[in-house]
Amino acid sequence: MQLLENTELGNQTNITEFILLGFGEHQLLQILLFVFFLLIYVATMAGNILIILLISSDRHLHIPMYFFLGNLSCLETCCSSNILPKMLWSFLTGNKMISVQACFVQNYFFGSLGAVECYLLSAMSYDRYLAICKPLHYVTMMNGKLCLHLIAGSWINGFVASSVAITLMSNLVFCGSNEIDHFFCDTFPIIELACSDTRILKLIMFIVCSILTIPPFILTLTSYIFIIEAITKIPSTMGKQKAFSTCSSHLLMVTVFYGTLMGVYVVPNTNRLNSLHKVFSIFYTILTPMLNPIIYSLRNKEVKDSLRRLTSFLYAQTQRKNLT
Ligand SMILES: *[C@@H]1O[C@H](CO)[C@@H](O)[C@H](O)[C@H]1NC(C)=O
Repeated sequence: MQLLENTELGNQTNITEFILLGFGEHQLLQILLFVFFLLIYVATMAGNILIILLISSDRHLHIPMYFFLGNLSCLETCCSSNILPKMLWSFLTGNKMISVQACFVQNYFFGSLGAVECYLLSAMSYDRYLAICKPLHYVTMMNGKLCLHLIAGSWINGFVASSVAITLMSNLVFCGSNEIDHFFCDTFPIIELACSDTRILKLIMFIVCSILTIPPFILTLTSYIFIIEAITKIPSTMGKQKAFSTCSSHLLMVTVFYGTLMGVYVVPNTNRLNSLHKVFSIFYTILTPMLNPIIYSLRNKEVKDSLRRLTSFLYAQTQRKNLT
């Protein structure tokens, strides 16, 4: 009996690969999805890298608001690169396997970057709060040091918190099914496959996720309540519009990100609703990184001016080369 149990345990640890089911088997659909997500990936990388280049090369943009934005773009390129290349590869080759280690690495980065995004977004809304509600003290309060602390704090906190979560998960033993009905290695679907009793682990993970996301969410929400209150007090319509335009893009970003993130965790995870989960996940893992450069920066006059300066500079360079 003892022996039998041991060999069974031996079999249980044998799972070394998961299968990410993704979006089904239909051949034509895979090709369409490949093209669709490839375009999204290219657009995400191009948009965000352009923003990083503009912000680091243009001295006009060396102010806290753009440091936050540059870091957010950095984060978005990492987020997309953590998920999309593997996904594109499976669409192209039909190979849906991923080793357990690779899956954990992907999950680790997904968790860390997601947490960093929550913190950065709330730091950015705090920055907008200071700019709109405390305009006279903005420059002294949001100085280089505070900005650096907020940004460094976001990155460090995100990675530390995710390390805690992944350590809790690292003891899981997998047996039986190895199919994950998702397009990337999300936390709860992985835990679902473990053969040990995971009720306590799930509860702890739920608490960890809540500790990670609720405070920055409340901070963001409070900042916006104060901002909107301040804006309604501005007497002229012109002034209202001007103040609102500096934060409307950010508000839109935050709403899409948190709205879909909550959609994933609030909608009960039953088989019937699984496709809904996937759609919400596509939003906050894949679409927000692409939308960020579009709705956040290219609508913004200073970024557009910077882009104009860069293109005319490059144009002058090529002209000069042609002359010599
Ligand atoms: C990220 O933030 C740091 C600290 O403020 C800043 O020095 C750096 O330029 C930012 N990165 C980008 C790409 O904007």
